[in-house]
Amino acid sequence: RLLIIDFGSQVTQLIARRLRELNVLAEIRPYQAVTMDLIHEMAPKAIIFSGGPDSVTRDGSPRAPDGVFDYGVPILGICYGQQVMMQQLGGNVVSGEGTAEFGRAYVEPSAKLDLLDGWFDDGREQVWMSHGDHVAALAPGFEVYGTSPGAPFAITADTARNFYAVQFHPEVHHTPRGAKLYENFVKLAGFTGDWTMASYREEAVQKIREQVGDKQVICALSGGVDSSVAAVLIHEAIGEQLTCVFVDHGLLRMNEAEEVVGMFRDHYNLPLIHADETELFLGKLEGVSDPETKRKIIGGLFIDVFQKYANEIEGAEFLAQGTLYPDVIESVSFSGGPSVTIKSHHNVGGLPEKMGLKLVEPLRALFKDEVRALGRELGLPDHFIGRHPFPGPGLAIRCPGEITREKLEILRKADAVYIDQIRKHGLYDEIWQAFVAILPVRTVGVMGDGRTYDFACALRAVTSVDGMTADYYPFSHEFLGETATRIINEVKGINRVTYDVTSKPPGTIEWE
Ligand code: XMP
Repeated sequence: RLLIIDFGSQVTQLIARRLRELNVLAEIRPYQAVTMDLIHEMAPKAIIFSGGPDSVTRDGSPRAPDGVFDYGVPILGICYGQQVMMQQLGGNVVSGEGTAEFGRAYVEPSAKLDLLDGWFDDGREQVWMSHGDHVAALAPGFEVYGTSPGAPFAITADTARNFYAVQFHPEVHHTPRGAKLYENFVKLAGFTGDWTMASYREEAVQKIREQVGDKQVICALSGGVDSSVAAVLIHEAIGEQLTCVFVDHGLLRMNEAEEVVGMFRDHYNLPLIHADETELFLGKLEGVSDPETKRKIIGGLFIDVFQKYANEIEGAEFLAQGTLYPDVIESVSFSGGPSVTIKSHHNVGGLPEKMGLKLVEPLRALFKDEVRALGRELGLPDHFIGRHPFPGPGLAIRCPGEITREKLEILRKADAVYIDQIRKHGLYDEIWQAFVAILPVRTVGVMGDGRTYDFACALRAVTSVDGMTADYYPFSHEFLGETATRIINEVKGINRVTYDVTSKPPGTIEWE
């Protein structure tokens, strides 16, 4: 594997992406966590120092452990990472007037270097610069291999020790041929690009067996992609030592519970407890219409219920979770400032300590699309893996106002028709998330010769890359008209359909 030491750049994740696209397993660790012990434990074949917002000229600014330079593997420093290398290896970095450079720049070669194979065919390369400081004197052993008007030391290297340091960001889109640098770097570090999902699966199975031994593991299976892939992978590793608890809060979509139980219990033969607690959840939600109160009730009950069932599983010592790489990275974010709670998300955080359980998190190294690839590798059906995200509190937050069984039933039917329409028109995979919300108003309509007084609903469909920002999906008027007609004809209880054209921000994706 390759270790990326994160000095806090906004784009560190992109370095990992670029490397994984080359079939190299790259793992990011925040600089504070990188000790020589960790390096020996991870045994990376190469190390990359990321960029970062600080200035190496400031006392107490981030550094790499000194021993890393004697560890004997190739190192590539990027931007702040370059400056860290220079500073720690005896060069000089300056800040102040005339040292900053932001945006597009062009570098030109000043000598030949393995790292630059395939670069400079046209005499120069476009790169993205974003730095306040610059290197003023190279560390002993380093030479210059490329310059830009604002960075006389744009590309530097100590080829004897295989240390490379660049001032720009090869990982971003605005360095169009940056991937080539990474390709050259991993090649000279001896990577063969054999990190595939099949090898990940094998390694993960091995690791889970080592971690768990002969102990029991429990898993809160939601039917979402992450927990499903984690469960199937762990089941492959330890079979019957894994028990899944599927907490059914009665706020799931049409046939969802049956599908989840059918697939995991019957198809995968996975020990699964279907905790049908519909009565409990709907009972406690009766008369509640405040969104945050709903979320807190559901989150709290979820934990209680899970704990109740988990306690019945003899000798459980581990809790399996489908934690992904972005979750891990967010948790070491550098901002750390207070932020406003827009919505309380529900998860089982805090449970492991409360129940004295250790965590098994076999997806911690993966991005979402890699989890999907692993799911396919494990034989999970495509339609299941490609499913839109579904929130923990389920239909409760798509039912503004008071939740009733009647409304839930209507909502399920309308949602099923809407999703069917989207699939039939081949649009499902273009959309990040699509669903129906049932509105807490009845409106007057006319059907046949009669008056109706039924619920209105809103269709929602958005595009997004990460759920943080979103735009509404531009359906054609024909599609919207046809879908409205189908919903009104096929779903008793709805006589009016609207389309939500709010982006996020200012809206959120869900209605509550
Ligand atoms: P919002 O509505 O905040 O949603 O724009 C962003 C994404 O998060 C999902 N979401 C949740 N997921 N537990 C979850 O697991 C929650 O409590 C929750 N609330 C919202 C939402 O569906 C969208 O994909």
